[in-house]
Amino acid sequence: MDSLGARRGVKMVIGNWKMHKTAKEALSFVRSLGPLTKKSSHKVCLAVPFTAIHAVSLEAKQMNVRIGAQNMHEASEGAFTGEISASMLKEAGADFVLLGHSERRHLFCENDERINQKMLRALSEELQPVLCVGETALEREEGLSRQVVRRQLMEGLKDIHREWGSRIVLAYEPVWAIGTGKTATPELAQEMHAFCRSLLAEHFGGGIEKDLPILYGGSVNLNNVRPLLEQPDIDGVLVGGASLDVELFARLIED
Ligand code: PGA
Repeated sequence: MDSLGARRGVKMVIGNWKMHKTAKEALSFVRSLGPLTKKSSHKVCLAVPFTAIHAVSLEAKQMNVRIGAQNMHEASEGAFTGEISASMLKEAGADFVLLGHSERRHLFCENDERINQKMLRALSEELQPVLCVGETALEREEGLSRQVVRRQLMEGLKDIHREWGSRIVLAYEPVWAIGTGKTATPELAQEMHAFCRSLLAEHFGGGIEKDLPILYGGSVNLNNVRPLLEQPDIDGVLVGGASLDVELFARLIED
């Protein structure tokens, strides 16, 4: 698998466009972004709408930008009207797929078991999964953050063995921070990332957690990105709103 890569000091920035941008708009964004990525030492990735993957991935091949999807179905094929499979995404040009994003969990009722099936499917089809976990505001208020993240992470990784472990990217995205303008402080995010890394160690063993990138997501913008990226266990960021404007995004990926 053409991997998004292990940590080794390189920070990763994934833009999550959600349901924004037609293929034409996406192409124009990527063409403008191309020259600007030359100044960045970060690994730059974009999770784009399905309809934009093909066009944008052809363009991105010549630049330092990786293209992925935002969701997929867990079956390899079948009678699932309106769904899309891992092999379709790969053929269209996706390298990775976001799985378990909080909008999928809360608006589309995806549970941990289903997300785990999607993880297994993505890995077996050599599409790199980015597993998203995070607690809601109420869960945090009730002191349940660690319990919720432990459950989402351990169930999401069920039956995923060490040989596949190095292909996973994890994203900690507290639901209360997504699209709200409320970011976790660098200290709080670092604490949760260190906790996630300890869970990866518990699940996989063998020290591979040290190589797995853990990204932070939730209202990341130009004002907060640098202190977040300075934290030892924050290996990159997953950016929604601030990834939609090419000039803003280009500034976010500057070193
Ligand atoms: P946001 O979204 O940056 O707009 O909060 C992040 C995400 O949903 O991945």
